[in-house]
Amino acid sequence: SFSEAEVQSARGAWEKMYVDAEDNGTAVLVRMFTEHPDTKSYFTHFKGMDSAEEMKQSDQVRGHGKRVFTAINDMVQHLDNTEAFLGILNPLGQKHATQLKIDPKNFRIICDIILQLMEEKFGGDCKASFEKVTNEICTHLTNIYK
Ligand code: HEM
Repeated sequence: SFSEAEVQSARGAWEKMYVDAEDNGTAVLVRMFTEHPDTKSYFTHFKGMDSAEEMKQSDQVRGHGKRVFTAINDMVQHLDNTEAFLGILNPLGQKHATQLKIDPKNFRIICDIILQLMEEKFGGDCKASFEKVTNEICTHLTNIYK
């Protein structure tokens, strides 16, 4: 669980990213798809996935980037309430495990890209403030597979 100080600094860090949820969410996905092309195999129904330039313009990628960031934002609003935090994370994890069949190694990949982007845009303190959140998300998502 998170201390009051951890909750405050994680929220402050996340707010900077979430101001531009669609652009930043899209940037995270485009980086995942280009640096880890195997992750594209889950998105064969998305059009225009051949180059980063195309992906950045894609309404499907942009919409999905926004959706992923909205889900993280909901979790960030409940860091001080484990039950509510898991109430958001568990059903999402179930869907990724059973319906979407996402290899759980990809959760660490996307979380590391989120942290990388935070560091590039807002600096090392911002990244450091959010690491515990991405660790919690990855740990719980991966535990659902066990
Ligand atoms: C769908 C969030 C990681 C692949 C979704 C949805 C959300 C979401 C909110 C929509 C769920 C719904 O419609 O009920 C997240 C979060 C992640 C994460 C918060 C980690 C921080 C991943 C990873 C992959 C992935 C790593 C694959 C590499 C998918 C796919 C869909 C999906 C294929 C369905 C997309 C569609 O057909 O529109 N995710 N996701 N997700 N996610 Fe994730």
